[in-house]
Amino acid sequence: MEKLIIDGGYPLNGDIEISGAKNAAVAILPAAIMAGKGSCVIDNIPDISDTKCIERIIESLGAKVNRNNNTVTIDSTCIDSWDANTEDVRKMRASYYLIGALLGRFKKARVEMPGGCSIGVRPIDQHIKGFEALGAKVKIEHGAVVAEAEKLVGTNIYFDVVSVGATINVMLAATFAEGKTILENPAKEPHIVDVANFLNSMGADIKGAGTDEIKINGVKELKGCNYSVIPDQIEAGTYMMAAAACGGKVNVNNVIPKHLESISAKLIEMGVKITENGDSITVESSRDLKGVNVKTLPYPGFPTDIQQPMTTLLSISKGRSIVNESIWESRYKHVDELKKMGANIKVENNLAIIEGIENLSGAKVVATDLRAGAAMVIAGMIAKGITEISSIEHIDRGYPHIEEKFNNLGAKIKRVKID
Ligand code: EPZ
Repeated sequence: MEKLIIDGGYPLNGDIEISGAKNAAVAILPAAIMAGKGSCVIDNIPDISDTKCIERIIESLGAKVNRNNNTVTIDSTCIDSWDANTEDVRKMRASYYLIGALLGRFKKARVEMPGGCSIGVRPIDQHIKGFEALGAKVKIEHGAVVAEAEKLVGTNIYFDVVSVGATINVMLAATFAEGKTILENPAKEPHIVDVANFLNSMGADIKGAGTDEIKINGVKELKGCNYSVIPDQIEAGTYMMAAAACGGKVNVNNVIPKHLESISAKLIEMGVKITENGDSITVESSRDLKGVNVKTLPYPGFPTDIQQPMTTLLSISKGRSIVNESIWESRYKHVDELKKMGANIKVENNLAIIEGIENLSGAKVVATDLRAGAAMVIAGMIAKGITEISSIEHIDRGYPHIEEKFNNLGAKIKRVKID
């Protein structure tokens, strides 16, 4: 086991390169198993434990997977199993994409119930509704989702809630359905568009991803392709929050500024200077910031995955801020940790009421989940004194080389082994 030890109080300055998007990569890797011919060569796959976990799962199904730095080559022609049942499958959320991918390709899938961050109830009823509408029979058996169909037939599917996972999963299965499928009220996150683009590169016929309606004309087979994953909107947003909180001037490079508009807008409202320049955003902050109200919403709204780092920033911003977490019911575990560092935050149901204080003070804290971990790293970098963060395996699930990237900007973070 490892922990991070942070000596806080240093401004951040310089350039940071953003990696490929985790939440696109963890869907694109399972989608690659739908190619019955040729290999997929996928670039810009982030070096994080979640992508490595998915790679092992795909291998366990019989695919040949080879990683060379950030490029992963997948030959799925020899897949001989539709049963995903390893410990890795149970560990991570995105393993549910194997249901759509296997059901599409083999008309049969058995996938152990997915795990993931503990941020509230995480139902998959909308995924199941979509598979059933396409003609599959779905049941939960001995802790696994079992889906089977004689054939999948395209239809209109209206999602009752906007769900990233359901949109992608049903899009995967519908790629191999006979005729046309229309997904209404889909999620519009950048990674939805990226997965659709990847499927189209393999030969799928998907239009409208990123809009209110996705139209999928079923195809009979997919083949390997070359593809590069988009930059990570959430990693970029986290570094923007950190630059704003620590003060200094940071160029956040290799980003798509459009994907970051809701984050940039909030930072500007707080008094941060944001400049866009091609595929780079410069964040300049004096640390003299004013509090704001934030409500998390599906894209293009403010992302729930940035709510936790944002709470850290608001904890040292002037006045009262109110955060409204409207996506997940229990995504405030980081607040108890921030309180150990002196933050003045009260949680009432899905609201966090924050009274900004001058500064945090270093303490021993826990990374309770992935983005909570990022929130604690930012807290440690701004706090007076030393912060020790344990359970950092959560952070490694989604942030490649986090201490190295922050140290290059002037932070003082050490990773140490513990018993
Ligand atoms: C994805 O989770 C992301 N994970 C999450 O990021 C992110 O927080 C979330 O989308 C929202 O943006 C991955 O992409 C692997 P949802 P997902 O289905 O797909 C409800 C991170 O930190 N819902 O969009 O599981 C659900 O309860 C992670 O990187 C249903 O009611 O989220 C929630 O309230 C954490 N029924 C809302 O919809 C369903 O069938 C949005 O969930 C599905 C979801």
